[in-house]
Amino acid sequence: MKMRKIKDQIYWLGAVDWDRRLFDSLIPLPDGTTYNAYLVEGREKVALIDTVDPPMADTLMDQLADVPKIDYIVSLHAEQDHSGTLPRVLEKYPEARIVTTAKARGLLMDMMSLPESAFQVVEDGAAIDLGDKTLKCIHTPWVHWPETMCAYLEEDRMLFSCDFFGSHIAASDLFVTDEGRVYEAAKRYFAEIMMPFRTIIRKNLEKLAAYPVDMIAPSHGSIYQNPAFILDAYNDWVNSPPKNIVVIPYVSMHESTKLMVNHLAGALVEKGVRVELFNLAVTDIGKLAMALVDAATIVVGTPTVLAGPHPYAAYAAFLANALKPQVNFLSIVGSYGWGGKTVETLAGMIPNLKVAVLEPVLCKGVPGAADYAAIDALAAAISEKHAEKGYA
Ligand code: FEO
Repeated sequence: MKMRKIKDQIYWLGAVDWDRRLFDSLIPLPDGTTYNAYLVEGREKVALIDTVDPPMADTLMDQLADVPKIDYIVSLHAEQDHSGTLPRVLEKYPEARIVTTAKARGLLMDMMSLPESAFQVVEDGAAIDLGDKTLKCIHTPWVHWPETMCAYLEEDRMLFSCDFFGSHIAASDLFVTDEGRVYEAAKRYFAEIMMPFRTIIRKNLEKLAAYPVDMIAPSHGSIYQNPAFILDAYNDWVNSPPKNIVVIPYVSMHESTKLMVNHLAGALVEKGVRVELFNLAVTDIGKLAMALVDAATIVVGTPTVLAGPHPYAAYAAFLANALKPQVNFLSIVGSYGWGGKTVETLAGMIPNLKVAVLEPVLCKGVPGAADYAAIDALAAAISEKHAEKGYA
């Protein structure tokens, strides 16, 4: 794909990665992704904003073939999917300065072996004058690394946000056309990458609210011509209380835990509580992460394996602890054969979650009437707790 014009003097460059299915050897990418870079041609100076993932370097370099000069390479984020082609770009434009935060300079020097002399560090609010265009550098840390910033093109009221507001979708659309599809992908992106930083994202959103924005150009996914769509979504994700939802990640070996989980789901639904079940043996963890954005309660379903939780359940607990969703309540249901420390082990794996633990239900072998009654009691307790909090 060639360089594409967004508007006068502003261009999209980059690569559409239709085939990628995993990020960080962890995050599923069911719809691929894009690595967006942008070129702003001022009357006097030219700025390239970000680069692309190293395997896509040739694509970017081909797009730059007819660009005679670049004065600034604005690096919004040091992660390699945006910075990995900096050395190639700098090789072609040795006079260019890498404009970035002090923290990003350190990271880029460590990861790209770039010399300190290649950098121009910018303070929060610094302006890069391109002649008739001005790029303002707005520090927005922890979206999702400590060094991240946005660039605001004042004359065009355009915000370049890198990962912030991004979505992993491989699309040929330069601009968002299907907001429903993008909402799903952007929420998945928020859940997997941004959710642990909810508090500081709130502050960053407040900071950005001071800038009138006509267009948001992220470094993954299409460009937002309706910025309110994604700004409203982010404000909802970071500011809204949990909803009347129970997320149940579970794994079952001989169906006993599955019987318990299904009974719990039915009991909750009867009480008007929404449930989302995820069989950890087959689930897409991105879907699980998305469900955690809104959930008030997590109930982990696990059999006992080698005296503790099933490894898949331990994985889900570790993931939830790392993503820090705003859940309030947690419980555990499951079956065991002859004993173990499942509850203690799982409870010890979630120190980041500020949750009240509701009475777990563990049964020996196949669940019986007393076990189902205990599950009904758990469903009632969850329903009451949600009602007390006013979760709708
Ligand atoms: Fe798209 Fe944090 O890199």
